[in-house]
Amino acid sequence: MEFSTRGGRAEALKGQCLLVTAESGGKLGAAARAVDAGHGGVIAAAIKRGDLTGKQAQVVSLADGATRIVVVGIGKSAEATEASWLKAMRAGIDTVLASAARDLTVCLDGHPVRRRDATWYASQVAQIALQAAQRPDHMKSKREDPPRLAKIAVWADGEEAEAQVGRGLRQGEAIGHGASLARELGNLPGNVCTPSYLADRAQALAKDHGLKAQIFDEKAIAKMGMGSFLSVSRGSAEPPRFIVLRYQGAGKDDAPVALVGKGVTFDTGGISIKPSGEMDEMKYDMCGAAAVLGTLQAVAQLKLPINVVGIIPATENMPGSKATKPGDIVTSMSGQTIEILNTDAEGRLILCDALTYTKEKVKPVLAIDIATLTGACVIALGHVASGLYSNDDKLAHELLDAGHAAWDRAWHMPLWDDYQQQLSSNFADVANIGGRPGGSVTAACFLSRFTRDMKWAHLDIAGTAWVSGKAKGATGRPVGLLTEFLIRRSGGDRSAAA
Ligand code: BES
Ligand code: MN
Ligand code: ZN
Repeated sequence: MEFSTRGGRAEALKGQCLLVTAESGGKLGAAARAVDAGHGGVIAAAIKRGDLTGKQAQVVSLADGATRIVVVGIGKSAEATEASWLKAMRAGIDTVLASAARDLTVCLDGHPVRRRDATWYASQVAQIALQAAQRPDHMKSKREDPPRLAKIAVWADGEEAEAQVGRGLRQGEAIGHGASLARELGNLPGNVCTPSYLADRAQALAKDHGLKAQIFDEKAIAKMGMGSFLSVSRGSAEPPRFIVLRYQGAGKDDAPVALVGKGVTFDTGGISIKPSGEMDEMKYDMCGAAAVLGTLQAVAQLKLPINVVGIIPATENMPGSKATKPGDIVTSMSGQTIEILNTDAEGRLILCDALTYTKEKVKPVLAIDIATLTGACVIALGHVASGLYSNDDKLAHELLDAGHAAWDRAWHMPLWDDYQQQLSSNFADVANIGGRPGGSVTAACFLSRFTRDMKWAHLDIAGTAWVSGKAKGATGRPVGLLTEFLIRRSGGDRSAAA
């Protein structure tokens, strides 16, 4: 899919397909009126007939000769929210994708959602189109025909708007492709997407985008002293991998931002085995890793002037004769000993060693880990916000702001010392579970013991990385939040200059 900005008079817009918006009561903005005037009044006629009311998410397809005109209802503009606008736009783009059109010009009218500018709308259009065009059917023997739509232009009214739309499209395209990669990896089944497979894809990503990749095998992982990580991989016949990817967009001596992603390619729970209902969804337990890869791809595509290192501990969590047993005590890379009271709390066991590696070997300005860490986070925040924890309030607020801007939101959760006592163990330095109360908080507290003296944040994406039910699938979150955060930190993208 190719994206571009189109200027000029809306009356004169040509192409196989035009998309405009209408408000409740069939109210048209200046741009839609201009398109209508340029196409023989077909939109006004549809309003007069009563076919087009502009109610929220209504989609009406019209035609003027060879040109399709898709009108998307956005409801009452005073009531428009990000969610309502995105839903309407998705419905419109779905209609265009179902048609035979190869090109589309999106012609937006004003900015109905409060405090959102042309950059945001354009970025969202690109992201929606890339998501809508992605079909998770690459494992089906008969695949659907791919959509014909190959080109999307977004119309901009004037020079300043053109610059904003251009920037939005560039960012939206990078984020959209990054999220597509994250969704693709997340949706792959556990028998395909193994730790070695993730390592291969990381290496391919490095080759395509000029990153440096380092892959550690089991022996090398043992040599680094990652006894906690290896306690999770022990039960599996699939060997673990520790993946380090480096993107250098700034000076060699600039300390990087570290992104650490949980890469459990399948989580059975281990000896503390999970119930079998919906266990298939535990193939998504590598969505943190997938988000790291997707974000690195977006950052590389935008050529951001910043250094970023991606760190991924990848393993399966399986039962087996060699598997870790409840009560086993292991020594982490940090030297702290851990009593494993529940082998299903494995995410924190692989992340603690990855975070120690990050602190000691990568020495980043800050580290963010991303993990489908706890069911308790889903209970706390549902499927709307990712859980955000940090030992640095300023970093937490930067991430919250980036999430709001990208409309990939997180919510600040407490990391208070009061919770730490739940993790005390009779036999080791720390236990790997803290009981049911505040389960997402105590998981974060566990990680905090390995991130002292490092600026660190933790995103629990258990509720946001995929959707269950009929539309089951990975969402690609939080690639949007992370990329927006890195765009802001690097002082803006310079891809236009490149
Ligand atoms: N991968 C799961 C977390 C999870 C559960 C994500 C459900 C999405 C939906 C994680 O490894 C896990 O099993 N966590 C346990 C921790 C508990 C044993 C303390 C959980 O949440 O039940
Ligand atoms: Mn688990
Ligand atoms: Zn897990």
